[in-house]
Amino acid sequence: MNEVEIIATGSYVPDRIVTNKELSEFVDTNDEWIRSRTGISERRVSLNENTSDIAAKAAINALKSSNLSAEDIDLIIVATVTPDCYTPSTACIVQEKIGASKATCFDISAACSGFIFGLNIASQFIKTGAAKNALVIGAETLSKILNWNDRNTCVLFGDGAGAAIITKSEKQGIVSFHTGSDGTGGKFLSCTAAPLKVNNEEFNKKLKGSCENSIYEELFLSMEGKEVFKFAVRAMNETIKELLKSNNLTIDDINYVIPHQANLRIIEHVGKKLNIDKDKFYINLHKYGNTSAASIAIALDEANKSNLLKKEDKLILVGFGGGLTWGGTLIKWAI
Ligand code: ACO
Repeated sequence: MNEVEIIATGSYVPDRIVTNKELSEFVDTNDEWIRSRTGISERRVSLNENTSDIAAKAAINALKSSNLSAEDIDLIIVATVTPDCYTPSTACIVQEKIGASKATCFDISAACSGFIFGLNIASQFIKTGAAKNALVIGAETLSKILNWNDRNTCVLFGDGAGAAIITKSEKQGIVSFHTGSDGTGGKFLSCTAAPLKVNNEEFNKKLKGSCENSIYEELFLSMEGKEVFKFAVRAMNETIKELLKSNNLTIDDINYVIPHQANLRIIEHVGKKLNIDKDKFYINLHKYGNTSAASIAIALDEANKSNLLKKEDKLILVGFGGGLTWGGTLIKWAI
């Protein structure tokens, strides 16, 4: 079996910033409630850019940080719950946009665990020799499936994309995975039919107070927040514990935990339960909210580009999401 390592990361978030204050102008909420319950201050909303557009930008960003060209990529996996279309896959659209003509391309749907699941699948391809250089992307335009009149959900989410390039290596980089799913909990976080079009100038009009006739009225993401909260803490705890146990490590051996960026309180609960110093968590959710499959990928890229991560550092990436799904990976940083 080959070893596998991450050789480059990239990300892209749309320019349009929606602050908590701006949200409170058209939905019954306020900055204090959102920040104290979630840690989120603002999020990005994509205007006229669909999931494949932002995914391609994150991919190009990752390619620029590597010494590979698009032609060297032989596998593209896009994790998303907000694809451009039912078919072709967002991965195939990205392939065309970046010119990765030699790649096999497909999407996966595992909500916020999608990037971890994608890394796991790509690692298996590389371990067995079925692929050499894989591009794994988590990308979402969640704003197109949000009901902007539902304060229980619309304040929590945002748009963005993150990518990692993983390749065959001599040294162990991606060490191990732990993943799981529980279909009986699917009802706690669901979206029955995803609209495929992104926001346009209607979104800006809505922010100026025309939400009564909103075209977003019938949109579909729904969530039982308290159930998801309890599940999230449990899933993250168990995943981290399992990764440590199966690799004979303790939390003291880990330099950074890069969690799914859903809610600061979830991360704090996990920190308390497992006695993890809060500085060990990389957190950027205040800027982007919950970007589902993109969140861990964007956080990993930011941690990488800010030179926080040192070669040989041990990282745990850990996520949970709709499905229900959860997963984590232990990584020896190789860049
Ligand atoms: N602004 C102001 N008030 C609000 C808002 C809002 N945006 N949303 C709800 N409220 C009100 C409620 O109506 C309720 O009012 P009431 O007491 O008069 O009935 C009150 O605030 C308390 O509501 P709760 O739901 O009890 O608030 P809670 O403290 O549980 O926080 C939250 C809600 C933030 C959603 C929390 O449950 C949570 O974080 N859950 C996990 C969510 C999550 O992580 N989801 C995504 C994970 S999966 C994935 O990433 C795809």
